[in-house]
Formats: sequence, C-alpha cells, structure tokens
Amino acid sequence: GRTGGADPADPADPDAISFHMEDPGYRGALLMARNQGLDVHFHPADPDGLDAARLGDAPAIAFTTPAHQYPLGYRMSVERRVALVEWARRTGSLVIEDDYDGEFRYGVAPLPALATLPGAEGCVAYVGTSSKSVAPDLRVAWCLPPAALRREVEKWLAVHRRGPSSLPAEALGGFMSAGAMDRHLARAARVYSDRRARLVAALARECPTVDVTGVEAGLHLCVLLPGYDDDDVVRALERAGWRTRSLSSQSARFRLSGLVLSYSRLAARDADAFAEALRGVLDELRDPG
Ligand SMILES: Cc1ncc(COP(=O)(O)O)c(C=O)c1O
Repeated sequence: GRTGGADPADPADPDAISFHMEDPGYRGALLMARNQGLDVHFHPADPDGLDAARLGDAPAIAFTTPAHQYPLGYRMSVERRVALVEWARRTGSLVIEDDYDGEFRYGVAPLPALATLPGAEGCVAYVGTSSKSVAPDLRVAWCLPPAALRREVEKWLAVHRRGPSSLPAEALGGFMSAGAMDRHLARAARVYSDRRARLVAALARECPTVDVTGVEAGLHLCVLLPGYDDDDVVRALERAGWRTRSLSSQSARFRLSGLVLSYSRLAARDADAFAEALRGVLDELRDPG
C-alpha cells in the first residue's frame, strides 16, 4: 500500500507503483489500475506474449492474459512465461495472471500457467472467472494471491464487498466437486470448437486476404483491418444487425485496427451470413481516401 497526500489519480505522482500491461489489452484491468492511482505502462501486444526484458528493474505490477491474450488471442510462449516469473522474483514484483478463458483450447497442447512455474508462489496472483466457462451472470470468480498478500486481498474484498456472493459460489463448488463441470466443459468445448471452425472457414472464404488471430483458444478471435477505420466497420456491421467490437476501442497507445469477434453464441448458419456481411462492409469502405 502507499501513503502520503498526493492525488492517487495523478499519473505524475512520483510514488505511484508501475503497472505494466499489453496494448491492445483488457480495459477492465486498465480501469482498475487507473482507479488505484497506478502508473500505467503500455507494451505493444506481441505474438510471443509480454516481454519481461521491457519491464525494467523496479518492483512493479504486470498484468497479463497468457493463455489467450485479450483481445488479440496470442498464447504466451514458454520462454516468455519463464522469463516473466524470473523477472518478478528478481525485482520483487507481482504478476497478475488473468486466465479468463483458458478452459477452451482447440487442437493445441496446454501451456503451463505462470502460477505453476517454479518460483511463482511468491510473485504470481492467479485469477480465474466463471464468466466464460459457465455464464457471465453467475458473477463468481477466484483469485490465488501469493501467501503474503492473502490477508490483504481478503480484507479488501470484504471492505469493498467485491467477493463473489456465497450462494452461487457454493452452487458452482458443488457443480465442480460432483464432476458436472468437467462434463459441461467437454460438451461446451465441442460446441465452441464447431462454431469457431465455421467462423474461421467462412472468413477464409469471404475475406481471404484478412489476417485472423487468436484462433487456437478462448471464445473469440480477431480480424486485423489495417487501413480501415475499425469503428466505421463496427457501425456498418451494426446497421446490418451484427454486434462486434473494434480493436481500437481496446487500444490506448499502440492502436490497432480490427475486430474482436466473439463466436460463443454464433449459430452455424450465421457464420456464413456474418462473413458475407463483413465482406460487403469492407468492399464498401475500401479506399476511403
Ligand atoms: C480479459 C478478461 N478478463 C476477465 C474477464 C472476466 O471478468 P468478470 O469475471 O468480471 O466477468 C473478462 C470478461 O470479459 C475478460 O475479457
């Protein structure tokens, strides 16, 4: 914790703790960091994951989504994982590992969670949620902080009334211990794998020149649209009845143009219709200059 009279919202506060995150990145983490008066440092999202060599030697907090970078969907390499834990140990830093959709992988081997790597016990806080694996309305999530932070985290959750409500948490616990969660995840993974495959195939057919990222895991993928104003694309798709999210809306300093496409509820016939709509919009908006 920090003391002193400086405005915690003032980014120039010399006592502010540094908070490292990838950009584009998860807006929820950025909002949290800004609310806490942390000094936010953005690092361009890299297909290999957050690079510890960029993070300096001062104790800091690094937030990352290694299983499926939000939003671009990259999977952090094992080398970068090991280096990030090693950096945190060496500098006395904290890594927040947000494993928000790691339950879903498609034909690729699992990679070790940062929290399971040697030396991670004292410096990695592992965070998970039921929002993707079960339902966002459940509002149950979990956090395994390093032992030294545990009491502080429990106190903060109690004071701010931000812990999960106990009734759904206990129900989910029962669901898990009865083995029902494993069956649910196996079934859900087949459904999502199918939806993902149809969307990927439809995009390859209708928009073959567009780069697609993040297809190996999770419940969304991205299409990169350099040269387009992605917010214009989002608005045009919305007029055609499709809700998407622009990559630039998830960017701060390192702006990328593209779309975040969630396919968890995309019915089979809709994948083709969506890809056709996207092709139409891209044709219409091409060469705006
Ligand atoms: C990167 C990331 N982390 C965490 C979450 C989950 O947040 P919550 O558990 O509050 O639904 C989300 C949800 O969309 C997310 O995209």
